[in-house]
Amino acid sequence: MAEQHGTDASPERLASALMEKGALSSDWLPAFRRAPRDLFVPDVIWPGTAGGNRQMRRVVRSENPGAWWQAVYTDAPITTQWDDGAYTGPDKGKIPTSSNSMPTMVFSMLDALSVNEGHQVLEIGTGTGWNAALLCHRIGAENVFTVEVDGETARDARKRLNAAGFDPVSIIGDGAQGYAEGAPYDRIIATASTGSVPRQWITQTKPGGIIVCPWGPTYGGEAIVRLTVEAHGSASGKFLGSSAFMRLRDQRIERKHVREYLKGKPWPADGIESTTTLSPDDVGDWHVMFAIGVQVSNAFPWMETYKDGSYTLWLRDTAVTSWATADFEKDRTEFEVVQSGPRKLWDEVEAAFRWWDGQDRPDFDRFGLTVSPEGETVWLDDPGNPVPSVLG
Ligand SMILES: C[S@@+](CC[C@H](N)C(=O)[O-])C[C@H]1O[C@@H](n2cnc3c(N)ncnc32)[C@H](O)[C@@H]1O
Repeated sequence: MAEQHGTDASPERLASALMEKGALSSDWLPAFRRAPRDLFVPDVIWPGTAGGNRQMRRVVRSENPGAWWQAVYTDAPITTQWDDGAYTGPDKGKIPTSSNSMPTMVFSMLDALSVNEGHQVLEIGTGTGWNAALLCHRIGAENVFTVEVDGETARDARKRLNAAGFDPVSIIGDGAQGYAEGAPYDRIIATASTGSVPRQWITQTKPGGIIVCPWGPTYGGEAIVRLTVEAHGSASGKFLGSSAFMRLRDQRIERKHVREYLKGKPWPADGIESTTTLSPDDVGDWHVMFAIGVQVSNAFPWMETYKDGSYTLWLRDTAVTSWATADFEKDRTEFEVVQSGPRKLWDEVEAAFRWWDGQDRPDFDRFGLTVSPEGETVWLDDPGNPVPSVLG
């Protein structure tokens, strides 16, 4: 395609880049061409950066068509809504609540879905409608069901889908319930993340069917899991690789402010001081957070950063009973820790880290997940080898 708006970004260039990376296969190339991303990205966007959580300022298509086009044909996610629509300003809101996902992620997930002609597919999280359009092209709109919880987002997506010539069954509702009217499905794909796979997704999928969804513990760290549904309401499979999706709306994690933990007293309040040789810097990577998070339940980290590059790693539990801090300073070999409450959160994180270290520091792809009516188990290498839980 010719140069657009003074940028060299184009569908062809993006397709080549995605194919080179191995994300876009020849199976999906015709859908990429027939459902170009620019037909689905809204006019007001906040472009993101590949693999990072940096967010650029708002871009309005009519004001800056070049920047808009550049963002659309860059392999990066694009935020399309903040705070369920409450923030529309030029910077950023509190949490991104809808987006057009990074193309590498879109096509990697579609590839993992292994769809064939005649398959019936349910998508959770219609968002801009791009993923639904790609599926419609591949398997026929009559086989695609897509659920979006946000009414305005769903209606806008429906308009874009129809304008592009696609007419899937588009539902406004809570995708955590699946969509019983269209079940059973051969495939379910979720483009909002979960910390607990809804039972309905399993019961609405045919035995042997596949569910592809982002899954991550409360602590942080997240990856795409590919589950094969077995008889008796269970599903099991391996994690494929890192992801960072927005949570299913009803599974969002509420984080209370630090002052609620300190109960009006200045830090360190009633905290007990100790030291550790484990650097807080060693527990912050996304895959390490995942490995910690699958062992340490109902807790989350937060970093308080200082101008000189040092920081305090805060740990808090969701029950608001316990907190811990660990201070990072460069060139130190011992770090100060303060812990308060019935859970010794730094000790839990350290024990979880030591287990992970002892397993040769596995990346996402050595972990797997089994979901059964009794609950969820994360395992390492083999379903018979569950990850231990650090008891709080
Ligand atoms: C990353 S975006 C989806 C991207 C989309 N597949 C696309 O092609 O543009 C995630 C979407 O999931 C939606 N969502 C969050 N919780 C949901 C729920 N419980 N049911 C259905 N949709 C949900 C959000 O409103 C958001 O639009």
